[in-house]
Amino acid sequence: MISLIYIINGPNLNLLGQREPKIYGSNTLKDVEDICIKIANKANIKINFLQSNAEHEIINWIHSAREEASGIIINPAAYSHTSIAILDALTLFDKPIIEVHISNIHKREVFRHNSYVSQKSTAVIAGFGIDGYKIALEKMIDLCSK
Ligand code: DQA
Repeated sequence: MISLIYIINGPNLNLLGQREPKIYGSNTLKDVEDICIKIANKANIKINFLQSNAEHEIINWIHSAREEASGIIINPAAYSHTSIAILDALTLFDKPIIEVHISNIHKREVFRHNSYVSQKSTAVIAGFGIDGYKIALEKMIDLCSK
C-alpha cells in the first residue's frame, strides 16, 4: 500500500516562474505543488512536497524518506551534476526513485549532461516542462501499487 511519496526539489527551484522562463516556463513551484496535490488526492495518497537550496537539507529529507516514504520523486537541480553526497543518500533508499528535470538537460551545456543521481534513479524524465512532475507522480503511484 502506498502511503506517502516525497517530492524533493533542489536549489533555485523556489524561483520557478521568475527564473529563466524561456527554459523553465512561467509556472511557479506552488503551481507544481498544487498539480501534485490534486493527483495525490485523487489517488488517495499523501505527498511531502519539499524544496531547499541547501544540500544537507536534501540529504536529511532522503534519510527521513527511508523511514516513511514508498517512493521519492526528486529534481536535484544543479546538485544533479555535482552531488555525490545526494547520490550516496539515495543509494540508502531501497524503493523507487524518479528523477525529474523540467528542461532536457542533454540538449543543454555539456556540464549538465551527467547526472550523478541518474545512477540510482529508477527512471528519469527530462524536457516535458512541469508536466514531468505529473508524469512522475502518476508513474510512481503505478510503480508503488505493483
Ligand atoms: C534542472 C536542470 C539543471 O541543470 C539545473 O541546474 C536546474 C533545473 C531542470 O529541472 O531542468 O536547476 O534540474
